[in-house]
Formats: sequence, structure tokens, C-alpha cells
Amino acid sequence: MTLPSHEVADLGLSGAGVRRVAWAERSMPALRSVRERFAAERPLAGLRLAACLHVTAETANLLRVLRAGGAEVWLAASNPLSTQDDTAAALVAEYGVAVHAWAGMDTAAYDRNLVTVLESRPHLLLDDGCDLVNTAHSHRPDLLEGVLGGCEQTTTGVIRLRRMSAEGELRLPMVAVNDTRTKRMFDNRYGTGQSTVDGVLRATNTLLAGRTVVVAGYGYCGRGLAERFRGMGANVFVTEVDPVKALDAVMQGYTVTTMDVAAHLGDVFVTATGNRDVVRREHLESMRDGAILANSGHFDLEIDLNALDSLAVSVDRGVREQADEYVFADGRRILLLSEGRLVNLGAAEGHPAAVMDLSFAVQALTTEWLARTHTDLSPGVVEVPEEIDHEVARLELAALGVGIDTLTPEQESYLNSWRP
Ligand SMILES: NC(=O)c1ccc[n+]([C@@H]2O[C@H](COP(=O)([O-])OP(=O)(O)OC[C@H]3O[C@@H](n4cnc5c(N)ncnc54)[C@H](O)[C@@H]3O)[C@@H](O)[C@H]2O)c1
Repeated sequence: MTLPSHEVADLGLSGAGVRRVAWAERSMPALRSVRERFAAERPLAGLRLAACLHVTAETANLLRVLRAGGAEVWLAASNPLSTQDDTAAALVAEYGVAVHAWAGMDTAAYDRNLVTVLESRPHLLLDDGCDLVNTAHSHRPDLLEGVLGGCEQTTTGVIRLRRMSAEGELRLPMVAVNDTRTKRMFDNRYGTGQSTVDGVLRATNTLLAGRTVVVAGYGYCGRGLAERFRGMGANVFVTEVDPVKALDAVMQGYTVTTMDVAAHLGDVFVTATGNRDVVRREHLESMRDGAILANSGHFDLEIDLNALDSLAVSVDRGVREQADEYVFADGRRILLLSEGRLVNLGAAEGHPAAVMDLSFAVQALTTEWLARTHTDLSPGVVEVPEEIDHEVARLELAALGVGIDTLTPEQESYLNSWRP
């Protein structure tokens, strides 16, 4: 068999990758049923897809669905640290995907791989964080020719796309997969919540019970983080800039305060705001000896890493796997996890497959919908049709064996009428 184009760490890891992908597949029933239909109907036949996604076993199962639907698929990583090298090898050797990604690549290689997958001249883009779309628009607009549209997977990517669109710069219809209820309510909340706790524990093995954990940002992800850290017995503080979300956190029983105050009190800090410089120099200066810093937001901008570097008189890189210890002049030690990048993917394995089943079933069905309807769409950010949200939830409920009620005709007409 001729292998697709690839640049991966070691193709010899493909056997281990296949086992990992198969293990994830067991928890992905919705995606499995979409794959069976795609294999029969081939809705993506003749299309080439370029994807920038975390190279994990769950992503591999999404790409298997797209391949079953008839697409040619090229994949680059959406984060330099998050690639599972065995999964990357399996994708190339077993599942016919052109992969250009390996764990721990430097920024130059990361950027180059984005260009490589764009140079395949794709019809559709699957992005996670908007780096693929951004690279094409900012550096290689020639590669946008022939691209019909794409999907965006995460909050930060959708925010960037909306900004591009508002400035009249976005030249494609991009579907905001992130904004579906079946994505945000489960992936961002339960997935990020559980896998971030997992990342912090794997990197530090710290005791959470009785400790103060500061969660910055009480959005979909932050809510999940706060719930899961509280479940481990931690005393959870929340920081916010949105007054309504701050009030919600208060009513959930969390201590809401400013980062200025929380910085003195926290044992563990986790950011999930999608914003920059949430933990700044003045906060680092007031932290306790042994404070742990982690980020679960998309980019490594939430903790001011330059300030951390400049405050340190020495750094013990790799004091534990995925943990660097910064020592300040007065002897205080601050632990930074996964270089300030997504801790749940750097130090753990990302979201559990069962939650990615929902996000990626939405992604697969949206890709099919986009392939069918792109001629009706204009450049800009496009919402996923609600029917896809409902279909994915129905598939998941069916797999779980859960039945729900349906509206009676009387109820339906009652809800649709204003007459007394
Ligand atoms: N780690 C993962 O696997 C994963 C999964 C999904 C999303 N994400 C990323 O996590 C980030 C958050 O996503 P979300 O869906 O929760 O977004 P969201 O918009 O629902 O929540 C972000 C929250 O942060 C708050 N915020 C902004 N600036 C702040 C500041 N300076 N201090 C305190 N709070 C601030 C906002 O008011 C908002 O409530 C994004 O970057 C997203 O791409 C990561």
C-alpha cells in the first residue's frame, strides 16, 4: 500500500495507535453510527479536507468517519504539545490520513505543517483555534482558492473568526461547531473539567482536598473546572469580568473575588478565559511558595510567561514530567504545568472519548451539511442548523438507552398559539 504524505515521529508506533483508537471508539457510539451511514452513502466523495485538530485517538475516529464518507484527509496539529505520536502513526499507516504532526514540535515546524496541509489544495477546512484559516488569510491567500468553507471547533477560534468577519476579512463561510449546545454544554464543561483535573494530578500528584483552587473565567469551561475541583474537595475561588457570570458563580456557592486577592490565597490556579494576561506579574509576585499554575484556555497567553521568566532566578525544567519549577529571589517556588499551554492535552490525554463523541458527531454531520449547502452560504460565521444538534443528542440518548417524551399535538399547538 502506498502511504499518504506524512511527517510523523515514528511510523513503527502505529500498532499501539490502532489499539488506542479502537479503545476510544468503544465510547463513541454516535460517531460509529454516522460512520456506518457515511460508508453506505459516501457524502464526501471527491472532496479533500485539510484539518488542524489535536492529534488524539478521538480525532482519529472523526477522521475515520470522514474517510468512510469518501474524503481525502490531511491533518496538522492544533497545538505543538498535544499530538499522540502513536495515533499519528496509525492515522498514516492504517487509516490513510496524510498527517504532518509530532509531539513537541517547535513553532517553526508547527507553522510549516499548517502550510503543508493547505498546499494539498483542500475543498473544506476543519479548524480548532483558527490557525489554519488565519495562516491562509494572513500569509497564503493564494491557497484559499478552491476552498468552499470550513468548520471551527473551539470558542477562541469562533471569536477570532467573528473579528475577521466584522472587519470584512473572512473570505469563507465558516460554521461555528463550537456554538452548538451538544458541543459547549458537554465538551467545554464536562470534558475540560475532568481532563484538566486529570492533567493537574498527573503532572503534580498534588492533594486537592482542602486546597484552594482559583479558576479564572466562569464560562462553559470554567464552570466545569469549578464543579470538578469542588468534587475533589477543593475550596474553589472564581475570578470573572462578566458580572452576570460572576453572580452565577456566587449563587453556586463559590468565593468570587479579584485575581489581586486570589493570588495571595491560591494553591492551584487554572485559567480558562480565552483572554490574555489573566495571571500577571503583580499576581505572580504575591503567590505562595509552591503555587501551581495551569492553563486550559486555547492559547498559552493566559499566564504572563515573560513575567514569570523575568521574576525567576533559576528554572528547573522538567522537575516532573510536564512541570517546570521557577524559583524566585526570595526562595519561593512556582510550578508551571505544560509550559502554560492546554494542560488537559499536555499533561493528560484531552477529553474522554465519550464526550468527544458528541462534538465530533456534530463536526461530521456539519461537514456533510457544508458539502451539500456551501453554494447557498456567504463568507462569514455560520450557525450549525439546530436539527444537527438534535440529531446528535438523539443518537447519544439512543446509545445510552434513554427514552424521552415527545410533545402531544395539543401541547404543540398550545406552544405555538397565543390565544387564551
Ligand atoms: N482545554 C480544552 O480542551 C478546551 C475545550 C474547550 C474550549 N477551550 C478554550 O477555553 C477557553 C474558554 O472557553 P469557554 O467556552 O469557557 O468560553 P466562554 O466565553 O464561555 O468563557 C470564558 C469566560 O472567561 C471570562 N473572562 C474573560 N476575560 C477574563 C479575565 N481577564 N478574568 C476572568 N475572567 C475572564 C469571560 O467573561 C467568560 O465568562 C477558550 O480559549 C476556548 O477555546 C479549551
